[in-house]
Amino acid sequence: MTGWLEGDVALVTGGGSGIGRAVALRFLREGAAGVAVFGRDLDRLRTVAEAAGHDASRLLPVPGDVRSVDDLQEAVATTVARFGRLDVLVPNAGIWDFNRSISGTTPQEISAIYDELFDINVKGYLLTVSVAWPELVKTRGSIVMTLSNAAFYPAGGGPVYTAAKHAARGLVTQLAYELAPKVRVNGVAIGGLRTDLRGPASAGLAGRSIEQSFARREGTGPNMWLPLHDASTDPDDSTGPYVLLASRREAGVITGAVLNADGGIGVRGFATAAGGDDL
Ligand SMILES: NC(=O)c1ccc[n+]([C@@H]2O[C@H](COP(=O)([O-])OP(=O)(O)OC[C@H]3O[C@@H](n4cnc5c(N)ncnc54)[C@H](O)[C@@H]3O)[C@@H](O)[C@H]2O)c1
Repeated sequence: MTGWLEGDVALVTGGGSGIGRAVALRFLREGAAGVAVFGRDLDRLRTVAEAAGHDASRLLPVPGDVRSVDDLQEAVATTVARFGRLDVLVPNAGIWDFNRSISGTTPQEISAIYDELFDINVKGYLLTVSVAWPELVKTRGSIVMTLSNAAFYPAGGGPVYTAAKHAARGLVTQLAYELAPKVRVNGVAIGGLRTDLRGPASAGLAGRSIEQSFARREGTGPNMWLPLHDASTDPDDSTGPYVLLASRREAGVITGAVLNADGGIGVRGFATAAGGDDL
């Protein structure tokens, strides 16, 4: 069977774990000729190659930090040197603010969280596109950014994370405008998933993961209830929209769009798992 991304080459930032890892492995299964996974921890990136099994030769681990222009330039150059081209860019590397609210933080803490989180989640996306767009123009390729329910709704994080994801949504709109008609730019707004998503080291939140937070909140109320799934869903279940948007054949007329792939957060209304009709 022919995959949806047959022969394409992709670069996924934050590809060592969670959604980025799942997207990288899915792209390989869709026939990608090569997928580079970029992240801070080389050992972790190597485990993605191991998970790729007999496709490991098409998986390229590239260590680096999305805050470093040099690292990103090196990653694009290495990817093109190895696979000959770049068709799909997935800016995805990110951190979370652990729902730190305006009333629950000091101004000093907000300042530290903002600087580190915006540097990675917003400037990191911008720099990733900044170094890669010339290669994408050559292939008439596309960009698929990882957004979040927090790009649309409150309570997916604190004010810093929510503002950062709204900013990334703005990048989709602006970059789709600037790079048309040669490069399509879209986003996938995924919902809460149990991943290794960490917080800013500057606020002492690098040692915890969102997975631990979800585990602690489990069963404590309707907030965790989504119409279609809960946070324990395998990240692989959220990779379909990335494949669709990356596909020239299937999404050649789509740019500037964001697919809400969050399990239906926006339509849950006041229903709760306990109180809703049993269909
Ligand atoms: N997990 C969720 O509930 C959820 C919900 C909505 C959106 N998201 C978004 O999904 C994306 C992926 O997160 P995830 O949930 O898979 O978490 P994750 O921690 O498993 O993946 C993020 C990856 O980015 C890497 N990373 C972090 N900072 C980096 C930096 N400065 N340079 C390079 N790599 C860096 C991490 O090492 C990690 O491998 C993020 O943009 C996140 O905001 C996650």
